[in-house]
Amino acid sequence: MLQLSLTIAASALLGIDLQKHTEKIKLSLEHCMRYVYGRMESMIAFPDWIPSPQRKLFRFHLGSLNKVIYDIIDQKQQIGSQTDLLDLIIASTEYNESDYHKEFLRDDIMTLFLAGFETTATTLTWALFQLARYPQMQKKIFEEVHTITESDLKTGAYISKATYLSAFINEILRFYPPVWSFSRQSNTPTEINGYTINKNDFLVLCPYSMHRHSALWQEPDKFDPDRFIDNKIPPFQFIPFGAGIRQCMGSHFAYMEITMFIIQLCKKFILVQMDNQSIEFRPGITLRTKQPLYIQISPRH
Ligand code: HEM
Repeated sequence: MLQLSLTIAASALLGIDLQKHTEKIKLSLEHCMRYVYGRMESMIAFPDWIPSPQRKLFRFHLGSLNKVIYDIIDQKQQIGSQTDLLDLIIASTEYNESDYHKEFLRDDIMTLFLAGFETTATTLTWALFQLARYPQMQKKIFEEVHTITESDLKTGAYISKATYLSAFINEILRFYPPVWSFSRQSNTPTEINGYTINKNDFLVLCPYSMHRHSALWQEPDKFDPDRFIDNKIPPFQFIPFGAGIRQCMGSHFAYMEITMFIIQLCKKFILVQMDNQSIEFRPGITLRTKQPLYIQISPRH
């Protein structure tokens, strides 16, 4: 899934083909995320300048990722203007060839790119796993999507035809929110439920617990896409993409990518659950599992 969403993000957002770099990116990203998450979890934040084997490895892999991004910028400059998102970013700001601006551009691309593919890959993994686990839901989705044509995908007409699939995707994002926690820093002193919040305090918000809170949801531990059909969910109760002015910029892109992929997959294949698979979370920056999740896929006849 990571490979798929990496290829889609590179091509749709950056207008480039990254197929031959995917293994390297996956490996470096894995190391960097593990290191960053380790630091976030740690009770003691050792300063950056203290040497350690982990830090050395982190620097090496960060260097690899940076090189990929700088190569993308160079490649872009050689190809000239197209009409993808990266071109718009370059055109909309005053980037020039100095290292200073190149660094800003690197940061923008890295954010967009990393935010855009790991999250989508995690959502797709959970979606496929649940499709295999609940054949009735898969059947319902197939009945809904088998009449969707290539032209529907191009014009956007698929959206009105895939209402159950849309509810299914929302339920995936509720049940297994890929970004299961994120933080905010208070810019003013305030009070929440009797707790004093000082200026600059960090607050951690946890979509995973909010999405499974019994005060907010009926039978929160039941996986049930129907709860999203004809049901207005109050704002700030369902926050897989965050909320407020810093909420996810790519939510529409993500919905589109996930929906189109599941439509294409369910039209051609049947997904079947494999025995003896237990789910043990290994939450990092996204909600992953300790062991890989396997399913069986066979062609539809
Ligand atoms: C299912 C897929 C996705 C999920 C669950 C997700 C979730 C999130 C969340 C929770 C945040 C943090 C919001 C906050 O702090 O309030 C975020 C930020 C962001 N996301 Fe996504 N995201 C997804 C896909 C994407 C895609 C496809 C893109 C790019 C096209 C993207 C680009 C971004 C960017 C640039 C930010 C930072 C926004 C800012 O700080 O202003 N995301 N995302």
